[in-house]
Amino acid sequence: MEIPLRGDAPILLFDSGLGGLTVLAEVRKILPQAPAIYAADTAGLPYGTKTEAEIAARVAGLLGRMSERYAPRLVCIACNTASTIALGMVRDVLEVPIVGTVPAIKPAAAMTRTGTIGLLGTAATVRQRYVDDLEAEFAAGKRLIRYGAPELVLAAEAKMRGERVEPAIIARAVAGLREQPGGEAIDTVVLACTHFPLLGEELQAALGEQVRLVDGAAGIARRIAHLVDGQAFQRSAPDRAVFTAEPVGHDALVARLARHGLEKVERF
Ligand code: DGL
Repeated sequence: MEIPLRGDAPILLFDSGLGGLTVLAEVRKILPQAPAIYAADTAGLPYGTKTEAEIAARVAGLLGRMSERYAPRLVCIACNTASTIALGMVRDVLEVPIVGTVPAIKPAAAMTRTGTIGLLGTAATVRQRYVDDLEAEFAAGKRLIRYGAPELVLAAEAKMRGERVEPAIIARAVAGLREQPGGEAIDTVVLACTHFPLLGEELQAALGEQVRLVDGAAGIARRIAHLVDGQAFQRSAPDRAVFTAEPVGHDALVARLARHGLEKVERF
């Protein structure tokens, strides 16, 4: 017999750090009534410089334990690095619906006029076969220039703590795209890491107004809304953020998380 879904069963959004808040913000726009838990594996941050085996083991292990503890109605892996590496494995072991985060190559390919697309991700994401497959399927006949920019992850985390973003870090990421063969023709850039939209203004300024930035957050939120369509929602406790290690800059962060409707902060 199927157990009826509880109205207070949360949507669990998971990332290595604060990048997944860009996905939560889109989820809030279309599902403001949905209880949510935001889970950050701060003990494992950053993922992008780890090996595939390390990332897969962390993500599958943590999501298994988190699913038991929080009984979510749906899990969103709000992290491109974790999704491109561990999505299949997590789907095999968990029974709840899992929504992953896929680099937005398809919409970027539809938008580009020059036929040259840049892709900024973590070092782990840009080398994934998953990205090769997306390129072959959706961007055949276009040029996709990839650059792994792990420094941007830490810059985004620092910005969320209220710290200044080092312009040289942004400049290095932009140069990493522009200085590759054909890079001057890039007119569309895929932000293939959920942390990077947090630096959208800085990246836009450095790339120039003519370049369009594309990320997958709104599409992921629509997918989640589709999967929970018709379900009852009832918030019986404040939404919370859970961290696997004490986050750096705790106090500034608590205020920032409250703006995302995450009123409690706990250790997992
Ligand atoms: N936010 C993550 C992503 O979307 C990864 C950041 C990291 O831990 O390196 O890829």
